[in-house]
Amino acid sequence: MSNAESFIKLSKVHEWLDELFLAHQTALLSLDLSEAERCLDFYETNLRLHIKDEDEWLIPTYGARASDIPGGAVEFFTGEHKKILGFVAEFHEMLSQLRNQKKLQLKHAIIRLLDREAMYKGLLGHHHAREHNVLYPWLDWLTSEAEREKLLAQCSSLEAYRSR
Ligand SMILES: [Fe+2]
Ligand SMILES: [Fe+2]
Repeated sequence: MSNAESFIKLSKVHEWLDELFLAHQTALLSLDLSEAERCLDFYETNLRLHIKDEDEWLIPTYGARASDIPGGAVEFFTGEHKKILGFVAEFHEMLSQLRNQKKLQLKHAIIRLLDREAMYKGLLGHHHAREHNVLYPWLDWLTSEAEREKLLAQCSSLEAYRSR
C-alpha cells in the first residue's frame, strides 16, 4: 500500500463535524435558539453527507472484502449511523419544544438537552474511534491506490470539508 492516499484523512471530517456541533452547543449556552437550530441544521446536512459517503461507497467496499475483523462487523458501522441520526432527530424535537418557555424553565430544558447531547457525544466518540482504528486502515489495506483515489474523490463530505 502506498501512502499517497489514505482514508485516514476522513478523520479530519470527523473533527470538523465535532466543531460544527460545538457551535450549536455554544449557541444553546447563549440561549440563542435560532442560532442553535441553524447550527444544528448545518451540522446535520454535513453529517448526512459523510454518512452517505460511508454507507454508499466505503462500507460496501470494505464489507465485500473484509471478514471477521474484530470490532469491525459492517452492522456496527451502519447501526451506529442509524443511532446517530436518531439522536439528531431527537435534538431537533427537543429544540422545537424550547420555544416560548420562560427563562428559568428554558435554562432547565437546555440543561436536559445538553445532558442528552453528552450521551450522543459519547456514542460519536466511540464511532469515530472505530472508523479511525478499523474501517479506514482496513480500507487502505484492501484497496489499490487507484481505488483509494477514486473512492476519496467520490466523498462529498471531504469536498465540503475542503471548501468550508
Ligand atoms: Fe460513520
Ligand atoms: Fe466517519
